[in-house]
Amino acid sequence: MQRILIFGATSAIAAACARRWNALGAQLFLVARDQTRLATLREDLTVRGGPRATIETATADLADLSTHIGLFDAAERALGGLDIVLIAHGTLPDQTACEASIDTTLEAIQVNALSYVSLLTEAANRFERKGNGVIAAISSVAGDRGRKSNYVYGAAKGMVSLFMGGLRNRLAGKDVAVVNIKPGFVDTPMTAAFEKGALWAKPDTIAKGIVKAIARRRDDVYLPGFWGLIMFVIRHIPERLFKRLSL
Ligand SMILES: NC(=O)c1ccc[n+]([C@@H]2O[C@H](COP(=O)([O-])OP(=O)(O)OC[C@H]3O[C@@H](n4cnc5c(N)ncnc54)[C@H](OP(=O)(O)O)[C@@H]3O)[C@@H](O)[C@H]2O)c1
Repeated sequence: MQRILIFGATSAIAAACARRWNALGAQLFLVARDQTRLATLREDLTVRGGPRATIETATADLADLSTHIGLFDAAERALGGLDIVLIAHGTLPDQTACEASIDTTLEAIQVNALSYVSLLTEAANRFERKGNGVIAAISSVAGDRGRKSNYVYGAAKGMVSLFMGGLRNRLAGKDVAVVNIKPGFVDTPMTAAFEKGALWAKPDTIAKGIVKAIARRRDDVYLPGFWGLIMFVIRHIPERLFKRLSL
């Protein structure tokens, strides 16, 4: 039975992953910031999972890096060890507000990049010592190339992607997989203000892909898969043309 630690568990995508893993009989340790929403998620999973479900929880503001080691310790104590870590929390900062304020920019980098660096490092060190495990984190297609409409968020996600590539290289000789999830547009509370179109996916579609990618110990995963082709094209547009586009 797999023991799974999820950071940002009340995110629409992570909650959908938790429901899928719960149905497969996994033991879960869920970390989220909002106590009420976390309790509701736990109750829902407990009802669905029945008497054999193990759902442990902790609340934390993950931008506060000093909480991280304690959360890993608590999860290992509660589940008797860990097999999978999924890092999913995040914010979509207002790009214009970031341009006007370095503090707003750094806050966005703190939660979307530096907190990931801290959690990924702790997960990597623990799984390296143990000799196995799967570390997964949700980056984004936005991290593949900087563009004017969201380059603060994109830069944070780009850092997560590069950092995970390095970790994967470091851990290649061990039985530790590092799975970088890059979703495209997903219809969640984070994107509630956006008009939806043909490229948009539902959180459960992304969750299905995440659970499968982790089971297969994949490397970089675009979700849905067609984003791999879109981003291949976007990454290959020459910069002298790209810088003039309104994206
Ligand atoms: N939606 C998309 O189109 C899309 C595309 C690509 C990648 N992603 C990524 O997918 C992941 C999940 O996002 P989502 O779309 O599922 O959005 P969501 O439902 O809005 O979830 C975001 C979650 O992050 C949590 N969070 C934010 N700041 C936090 C902090 N300082 N400490 C702890 N938790 C914090 C939020 O908690 P509170 O409820 O307490 O605010 C919320 O549970 C994120 O990393 C996001 O960047 C999303």
